[in-house]
Amino acid sequence: MSSYKIIDHEYDVVVLGAGGSGLRAAVGLSEAGLKTACISKVFPTRSHTSAAQGGISAALGNMGEDDWRWHMYDTVKGADWLGDQDSIEYLCKEAPKAVIELEKYGVPFSRTDDGKIYQRPFGGMTKNYGNGIVQRTCAAADRTGHAILHTLYGQALKHNTEFFIEYFALDLLMKNGECKGLIAWNLNDGTIHRFRAHTVIIATGGYGKVYYSATSAHTCTGDGNAMVLRAGLPLQDMEFVQFHPTGIYGHGTLITEGARGEGGYLTNSKGERFMERYAPKAKDLASRDVVSRSMSIEINEGRGVGKDGDHVHLNLSHLDKDIIESRLPGITDAARLFADVDVTKDPIPVVPTVHYNMGGIPTNYKAEVLTVNGSEKTVPGLMAIGEAACVSVHGANRLGSNSLIDLVVFGRAAAKRAAELVKPGTPHEEIEESETQKCLDRFDKLRNANGENSTADLRLSMQKTMQSKCAVFRTEKTLKEGVEEIKKTYEGMESISVKDKSLIFNTDLVETLEFDNLIRQAVATVGSAYNRKESRGAHAREDFPKRDDKKFMQHTLAWCDGKNTKITYRPVHKSTLTNDVQYFPPQERVY
Ligand code: FUM
Repeated sequence: MSSYKIIDHEYDVVVLGAGGSGLRAAVGLSEAGLKTACISKVFPTRSHTSAAQGGISAALGNMGEDDWRWHMYDTVKGADWLGDQDSIEYLCKEAPKAVIELEKYGVPFSRTDDGKIYQRPFGGMTKNYGNGIVQRTCAAADRTGHAILHTLYGQALKHNTEFFIEYFALDLLMKNGECKGLIAWNLNDGTIHRFRAHTVIIATGGYGKVYYSATSAHTCTGDGNAMVLRAGLPLQDMEFVQFHPTGIYGHGTLITEGARGEGGYLTNSKGERFMERYAPKAKDLASRDVVSRSMSIEINEGRGVGKDGDHVHLNLSHLDKDIIESRLPGITDAARLFADVDVTKDPIPVVPTVHYNMGGIPTNYKAEVLTVNGSEKTVPGLMAIGEAACVSVHGANRLGSNSLIDLVVFGRAAAKRAAELVKPGTPHEEIEESETQKCLDRFDKLRNANGENSTADLRLSMQKTMQSKCAVFRTEKTLKEGVEEIKKTYEGMESISVKDKSLIFNTDLVETLEFDNLIRQAVATVGSAYNRKESRGAHAREDFPKRDDKKFMQHTLAWCDGKNTKITYRPVHKSTLTNDVQYFPPQERVY
């Protein structure tokens, strides 16, 4: 039995995570008069939203005609008919309002000559139901996430959100299937904190670091997702992992899709613009799954560039220097820094790189967490937003710039819903001590682990397995091997070693807790991928190359009790909120 002194707190709502979605929720909650805490393991403006480059989608129509229904059609099609159409309708309809709100909060968007928000073309974003490219992605040069994050942090401070910064969340506190709060460890002074709340909103982002090469920061370990699994709840659609076409070769750093939006294009070792063959209409601006697969085929068929022929080129040198300077300054620096390339003269070496998790914590469009027990049920007291959530607007494949809009639309929706459900100042129920103890026992066990295996070695083994066995293209054989290898790595936890036993800024222990979170999501991801015997969106099975709508137009639900996974399915929501639009039955996706 572990004994740690507990410091107690009471809030109406606790937001876990201070990226774009967490901060947008916190602003709305605080504005609504709810006593709100925002807990983050990093300083808010260091959250991974700051790495989002190209922009935020909304059918504003600043650069030509646009319509939220076209945006919805593109999103349903991009998602390969696995998105929930009620959520997608909500997203696309609310998007213009949410962006104008950001503008009013002070986001320094790039501007057109007549002072409107500048919008650029992005992959899969079309006009009139697939008939031509539309400019829908609102941009602040190529640092849009950075601009949004800093603005929202300022707004949250203005509205008196209380921040708990560099606190690492350990587990949820549950009572009879309801969420009552969470436990967190203050990295700065080593103290343990229990937060009681009527609603906990998980906004902890994605888990890109289960892979070896990812555009994600080292902090992207999906901590909230793992807390949900440990609470006995499922994760949804974890097999759908997005590879962004243009990660810098050998480094993984993102080169925004905005570079292709501004006129950049990909070439192979013969200098061919190969996307013309795979997507004759959209070419380099097809959806990301299509472009990543095309690049992988070029490389696998021997038309890659470089001495090992294992990447391709992104060409920008033909673009006007003013455009590069004003709209792509960030990636110009990144290419110089990480690939030693002057983009005005030479192509950037790029390769598909893990970028985004379509899967996560299942929610409805109000951000309430769902579980399935016969039918769909909400989990009282628990919400999820942003990349941690699977709402599911991105289905099997997310369109570029639909992530930032997801953050703010559903961050805002969560705040609205919590304000309906929670009356400020409502007293808190007692929580069984055993719930706190269970969490501290896991913490203490890892802290005092004295085994043979280093966290770094286990993490590397997990990342290499995921990179090779659950990649852009998958087969029964690779996935089966993946399931077995990940199980073995999980078992390695039994003999893990944490050398530093202290409680203050113990990065050895932080990384071990993060690994414990990552490995559970790796189990869920590879298990879900193994069970989905079709190809859809980012899940490309060479042995099942076709989409199978009869069997698999369903969301995967994965419950993981350690290394074991239970998989079930739930139907995709085909109906919309108003029923004035619906994109059904599924079509072939042609770009
Ligand atoms: O390419 C990019 O700028 C990334 C945007 C996104 O993932 O939405």
